[in-house]
Amino acid sequence: MSYHRRVDILNRMLPWDGWGGRIMATVMASGNADMEVAAVELVDPQPDSSVVMIGCGPGVGVVAAARRVSNGMVIGLDPSAVMVERSRTRCRRARVEHLTRVERAAAESLPLPDGSQDAVVSVNNIQLWNDRSVGLNECARVLAPQGVVVVLLHTWAIPDAVPNDEWVGQLCADLSARDIRMEPTQTRRFRSGPAVVLLGRSAR
Ligand SMILES: C[S@@+](CC[C@H](N)C(=O)[O-])C[C@H]1O[C@@H](n2cnc3c(N)ncnc32)[C@H](O)[C@@H]1O
Repeated sequence: MSYHRRVDILNRMLPWDGWGGRIMATVMASGNADMEVAAVELVDPQPDSSVVMIGCGPGVGVVAAARRVSNGMVIGLDPSAVMVERSRTRCRRARVEHLTRVERAAAESLPLPDGSQDAVVSVNNIQLWNDRSVGLNECARVLAPQGVVVVLLHTWAIPDAVPNDEWVGQLCADLSARDIRMEPTQTRRFRSGPAVVLLGRSAR
């Protein structure tokens, strides 16, 4: 079986809900924390920013972003009930509840008005979206003029039987086709391994 096929199967089999989801949430809260924080640093939220974290998992990035807004709003979205509960608990413990909203939702159907978000962030989940094209349409729809899109993804989690460069190039092309001007792709090393780091800005 090819490497990409194994990654594809792993992406489909990893549990995000139930007991498996609880274990994954605990692992990700420490293992992926540096990636979530790096994504927030790239966004550089201003005090009044609106930021949506898609596939927020246990909510490390939601709290990190909320600490940088004083009268803005950070929205954490995840289809998993376990992740939503963990994110809400994390926000409560960090005393940033009033600056956050966490809901069950998938990238393919964002419960947000058009042009409402200064930043759209996805860390380690774009490979899991059921329909990437619909998800990217949603990202572009909710993004405010001049808003930023930040996508981080472990290089080892890139699925599909194409070379990683090709997969990332296609993703950048798909974002550009939605009026998002992409900066050169970077690969950065994090605690859990290397990841591609994409930053784009709405050209509208
Ligand atoms: C690998 S975890 C990453 C969580 C967190 N961003 C991190 O890096 O620690 C993937 C997350 O994506 C969520 N997810 C799965 N399908 C999704 C979809 N279609 N849209 C948004 N999030 C999704 C899962 O529930 C899970 O919480």
